[in-house]
Amino acid sequence: TQDADKSLDDELQQLLQTLPKEEGWSGSSFYLYQGFWCSARLKAVVSFQTHFPASDSNVIVASLPKCGTTWLKTLTFSTLYRNQLARDENPLRTSTPHRLVRQLEYDVYVNNPCPNLENMCVYKPWLFATHVPYASLPTSIKDSNCKIVCICRIETPWIRSFLFGFSSASFETKTKSCFPEMKLLTSSVMESHEDLKEDISCEVKQLAMFLGVPFTEDEEKQGVVEEIATICSFENLKELEVNKKGLFIPGIPNESYFRKGKVGDWRNYFFTPSMVERLEKLIHQKLDASGLAF
Ligand code: A3P
Repeated sequence: TQDADKSLDDELQQLLQTLPKEEGWSGSSFYLYQGFWCSARLKAVVSFQTHFPASDSNVIVASLPKCGTTWLKTLTFSTLYRNQLARDENPLRTSTPHRLVRQLEYDVYVNNPCPNLENMCVYKPWLFATHVPYASLPTSIKDSNCKIVCICRIETPWIRSFLFGFSSASFETKTKSCFPEMKLLTSSVMESHEDLKEDISCEVKQLAMFLGVPFTEDEEKQGVVEEIATICSFENLKELEVNKKGLFIPGIPNESYFRKGKVGDWRNYFFTPSMVERLEKLIHQKLDASGLAF
């Protein structure tokens, strides 16, 4: 394994020399790899691509950063494993969502090209998360029937792209690298941050159906759906001690995943009214045909 790791290091060093590079926020570098801007964690991305042994029973939460990953992790975890958890002892009360649903390229494959995934998964089936776009997912995932749960937040990639301000990239390039393929696969479902905000119970029920664990009539009568929605609510999670302090993923404070959780809050920051107007126009121009624009 050490030899394989060393040769991967050498190959990556060579690859890095050839990739377009931009400085991102907080001094970190981003590389244009397979059409998306990837942080210095490229080694973990490549290990994930090379070694992840997907099987049909796996569930993957897929998202762009800042689109509601944490929320979808909590909802998927609580829905999928509800029959393995004592009703009043959801581990979300004491563990950060990122420990319970581990991020493949930011955590699992960092420092270890072949981690023992079985040991990492207390509950079954396996549930992991990734920010890697569909086109760059490991072939094992794309060739399997594993379930991919995606979340999109229409406003976020645009705002990130705008704030990122990659100097040499055209607006088209930024847009392309910020939007993963939006096509829906037969084994995937797309949640929207905005829809979750509007009718959480309905979305949780749909999620359960997709995961193959629909709520029974009895569960619905007992209020299990609402219990999950409440445990996973922004108001609840933000106030938990475990989410208020510490860092699970190095460099990212746990509290930073819970800012305001409001739709459209970006308008109150960084932007002048004319910038807001310009961005909204662009969003509509690009997305009206897809029916995804707000
Ligand atoms: P804001 O910055 O608008 O507050 P990610 O988890 O992908 O990094 O996304 C973070 C965004 O999701 C933040 O948005 C955060 O507040 C919001 N968020 C996190 N948990 C949430 C929850 N349980 N309900 C609603 N929004 C949530």
